Amino acid sequence: MDEQGQSPVDEVGAGAEGLFVAEVVEERDAARTGASSSIPEPAPLTEHGPARIISMVNQKGGVGKTTSTVSLGAALAGYGRRVLLVDFDPQGALSVALGVNAYELDLTVYNLLTQPDCHIGDVILTTDVENLDLLPSNIDLSAAEVQLVSEVGREHALARVLAPILGEYDIVLIDCQPSLGLLTVNALTASEGVIIPMETEYFALRGVALLKDTIDKVITRLNPGLEIIGVLATMYDPRTLHSREVLQTVQQAFGDSVFQTVIHRTVKFPDAAVAGEPITSFAPSSSGADAYRQLAREVLAR
Ligand SMILES: Nc1ncnc2c1ncn2[C@@H]1O[C@H](COP(=O)(O)OP(=O)(O)OP(=O)(O)O)[C@@H](O)[C@H]1O
Ligand SMILES: [Mg+2]
Repeated sequence: MDEQGQSPVDEVGAGAEGLFVAEVVEERDAARTGASSSIPEPAPLTEHGPARIISMVNQKGGVGKTTSTVSLGAALAGYGRRVLLVDFDPQGALSVALGVNAYELDLTVYNLLTQPDCHIGDVILTTDVENLDLLPSNIDLSAAEVQLVSEVGREHALARVLAPILGEYDIVLIDCQPSLGLLTVNALTASEGVIIPMETEYFALRGVALLKDTIDKVITRLNPGLEIIGVLATMYDPRTLHSREVLQTVQQAFGDSVFQTVIHRTVKFPDAAVAGEPITSFAPSSSGADAYRQLAREVLAR
């Protein structure tokens, strides 16, 4: 079910000329789109929980889901929120981005999904970032999808796994795999909100109609409380016409759903991932770290 589906929405923005451009990946201080001053600083918390669960979803690959999960999570933790990041992609990229070698772990989210006697407290890892914990995964998770198919209540498996710890966290962010299969449906079923990271690149809107359709089906059939919190434009390059055009198209298509915060393309993100650290720790004064702190304020205000 990956990356398929053509629709009128798919065609939006695809007609602009000259949308191809060489990737630009150097750090820059270009002014960020959006008025950050209008987004209030979040009030400090005196107590924690129950957690708001948010899925980071786009079945298109490489759009910044994992980068946004780790960066937003760390920024929220920096605002004193207790945050659990759930790696729900068998590739385990989120675990790697936090410096965890998930392939050496005995227990991952897979065990929680398939073994009722496995306790979530035994699987959650603390990270080097205060207030930021991780529920890791690795390739084992790919087997869960097959195993869950024949189960009663298969779409609710992740919600059941997370239920015992919701009182301990303020926010749970689920990093989904690039697919709209059963794992992603589980994430959506467990969540109150969805954030859709979208690369400001040619074909950004391809498949978005199918994604919205999946979200709508989850709302009607499984989880009436689910809402789209926002669309996050990522890898924006203000120096290229096509990046600006795609951003405009996304803003026209989604209106106020698009976050004011726009994440610019900078090599600091892959560098931070290689270092196994969130950008807010790796390069705390970079424009990228700033952008995700602004996004954290927007998410808390929505
Ligand atoms: N703003 C950015 N600027 C430059 N590079 C970025 C940015 N955001 C993410 N990247 C890089 O782009 C690549 C893809 O990002 P990421 O892994 O976050 O996407 P994804 O949507 O999670 O991918 P997948 O669908 O494979 O899970 C990574 O190498 C990441 O470091
Ligand atoms: Mg990813």
